[in-house]
Order: sequence, then C-alpha cells, then structure tokens
Amino acid sequence: MNQLPALPPGFRFGAATASYQIEGAVTEDGRGPSIWDVFSHEPGRTREGETGDVAIDHYHRWEGDLDLLAELGIHDYRFSISWSRILPEGTGAVNEAGLAFYERLVDGLLARGIRPVPTLYHWDLPQTIEERGGWMVRDTAEALADYVSVVAGRLGDRVRDWITLNEMSVQVLYGYALDSHAPGRGLGFGALPAAHHQLLAHGLAVGRLRAAGAERVGVAQQHPLIVPASDAEEDLVAAGTFHAITNRLFSQPILAGSYPEELRPLLPIDDAQLAADLAVISAPLDFYGVNYYEPVRIAAPRPDLDTAGAIEVELPEGMPFAPVPYPSEERTDFGWAIVPEGLTGVLTELRASYPELPPVVITENGASFHDVPEADGAVRDPRRVAFLDAHLRAVADAVAAGVDVQGYYVWSAFDNFEWAAGYAERFGLVYVDYATQARTPKDSFRWYRDVIAASPAGE
Ligand code: NOJ
Repeated sequence: MNQLPALPPGFRFGAATASYQIEGAVTEDGRGPSIWDVFSHEPGRTREGETGDVAIDHYHRWEGDLDLLAELGIHDYRFSISWSRILPEGTGAVNEAGLAFYERLVDGLLARGIRPVPTLYHWDLPQTIEERGGWMVRDTAEALADYVSVVAGRLGDRVRDWITLNEMSVQVLYGYALDSHAPGRGLGFGALPAAHHQLLAHGLAVGRLRAAGAERVGVAQQHPLIVPASDAEEDLVAAGTFHAITNRLFSQPILAGSYPEELRPLLPIDDAQLAADLAVISAPLDFYGVNYYEPVRIAAPRPDLDTAGAIEVELPEGMPFAPVPYPSEERTDFGWAIVPEGLTGVLTELRASYPELPPVVITENGASFHDVPEADGAVRDPRRVAFLDAHLRAVADAVAAGVDVQGYYVWSAFDNFEWAAGYAERFGLVYVDYATQARTPKDSFRWYRDVIAASPAGE
C-alpha cells in the first residue's frame, strides 16, 4: 500500500470499546443490571441468544488488555463507564467498587502512556431507571448528570478528555422508536421525547464536567452519509426527511441550538422550556466525535422498490422514506457497503452546515469481517487493513478540504459483543477466542501499530 498521507501534527490515533461489549462480570462487585442485561436475556433479541454476561471478560483481564494497547502504541483509548457499576440503582447509593475499577483502568492507561478518553454513557442505562420511564422521562437527564458528577469527582484529576453520550441517535431510533436494541420499546415517532432527553442529558453533562474542571469535552455521534437514490424530487424529499430524523435531530440542537423545523411539532414541550433546554444542549464543545461506518441510500417508498439488506432492521409500514442498498461492489462481512469517500463527505458536509463546528475526532471507524485463525494461529485480515487504510486517506482528504480533524479511533481494539448481532461480527484489531478468551493480535493490529509509529505523535 502507498504511504499514508500526512495527517496534521499532533494528530491522535486511538482505539475504542464500550463497557457492555467487553467487560462481562455483570453481577460482580455490586454492579446493578442495565437495560442490555435484561434485553439480551429475552428470547429472540440477539442473533443466537448471546448476552454480554461474559463478553471478553475484560473486567478480569484488563491488565493484559492494556498491555496489548501499549504494544499497539495508541495515543488515546476510548472506553465507556458503566453507569450501573457506579450507581447500581441508577441514582442514590454510590458503589465504591465500581469507581475503583475505573480508577485502576485510568491509572493503568496513564502508567502505559495512553490517554484515557472515557465515554460516560454508551447505551447501558441502569434497568431501574428504565423502569422509572427511561429516556422517555426528563428525570433521566438529571439522573445522568448526577452520575456524571460522581464519576468526574473521582477521576477528574486524571482524565483530561471526556465524551458524554455515544450515538444517541442509534439508541433512540433502534431502542425507543424501533425494538431491535434495548430497551426494545417500538414507539415509532412517539419516541421523540427520548431524543430530547438524551440531548438534554448531554448538555447537563457538559455543565457538570466543566464544573469539575474538565479540559476537553465532546460527544460521539453516528454520521452516515445520506444519499438520495436519484435526483427525482420524491427521492430528494425522502432523503431529506431521513436526514432530519436520523441526523439533524441529534446534531443541530448541539451544533446550532435549534431543532429541525419539521420535527418541532413532535416534541411535547412548550416554547419557553424548549428554548431554555436548547441553551443547555448547545453548550460549546472542545471536539465533536464522528462515528462513521457506511453511507445510507434513501428512496421514496414505492411498491416495486428492492429494499432487501439495505439496513439491518425492518422499518414499520408507512414511513416516508425507504433505505435501499448502496450500489457498492465491496461490503464488509456484516453486509455494510465500503465507501471511504462517504467519510470525507460527512466531514465536509458537517463543516459546511455548522459554522460553530468544533474540531472533529473520528471517535469510531472500523469493519466487521468474520476472521478465522489460520493453521499457524495467525489472523490475517487484509480486508480490514485495506478498509482502515482507505478511511484514513478519506480523513486526510477532509483535512485537505479544510476540516479540522484531530484524531481517529478504530472500532474496535478487541472483538466484542456486537449488540443484537452477538459475537459473529468481529470488529477487533485483536482477535478473541470466546471459548478460551485467548487474545491474538491480527495483521491489522501490526499494520496500525506501524502507521502510528510512523506518524508524528504528540500534544
Ligand atoms: C457504533 C457503536 O457505538 C458501537 O457500540 C458498535 O459496536 C459499532 N457502532 C459497530 O456497530
């Protein structure tokens, strides 16, 4: 492969994970249940009935895992903190053992010269909070803020960079509007309040982190490139609606302090309250995290449309848009279209849409391939190497086009529990044998290590 284009000086390379996807130990040391514990144990919710009960047992194996990260040479490690390890009931009593675990993790990272970048909320809502209404009620935003203060109070002297919430769009749409992720509510357009409350939780969390002296605060948002299936007026309108619901609904309040006009009627909040909330939600950020995987192609619904395989979930009847397969030759083993220039497109579009856009960090990018160790034990994953290489070039193209991108994190450091898809989808730079929990760095691990070593690291 040709040498990678130079990224800006100080560009930070990292890798990412999330608590429920790697930790396991779900009943240990006082941890309370989260919505993903409950959901994954319900029959038919995950592909093969998998749960995160054990996952990659990172809770017990964290030291060895951090050694692998040190070998990889990443500058930043993005992980998430499990709210129900810290506050098993969601609110109230603090669980010292939970705080101590993340303190060990943070200290272990710092000792290895890796900067910890914790995400405070990566979808694992305490089940007790869900039973009190979950994200459909405003109190949950306040509860998250209180939890954030507890964590920042303990780790704030060592953690410099924080991420508030991960991909709120995916949790709200898949977990509240549809039923394919926890908590599986299936409320359709009635789920809009969950979006508002997650946005409010983000804004309140920013305030709490600032109060605790945080230096750098950001959010991680999913941004697929959304493209209309054709130039026909109805396809353009359908793509615009899809864009508003899945993207602008979540980015515009944060980056521009407003909601897309057309969605305002769906929010049961009076104007004064909404204005006050938007002021909180649009608190300035130090970085804006973009998670990018694939583009989405949208058509106006028509009876003859072939929508098979376009997205993993089935949409209810009567939606004003229809995802159709992206015309791409290349797909990951998860079936996702491989379109690196989509990442350049997302970044330049964000830059053009939001004058207040802070510097961007690619907080997730990666691919699932169904890797199998070869007879000699090695895991050769040339398609992942090609994927990552092409996407880094796409980032460099965005930088050349004037987007301030400060870092890039691979999803994921390790193979892990891929939510409703279970364990067959492998995104890791490190292969995990789930029968033995043995870790094997893949070829992509060595490739990434060399990329990082060859680039000017630094502050
Ligand atoms: C986004 C999510 O944040 C992460 O949890 C998930 O595993 C990856 N995308 C891959 O689907």
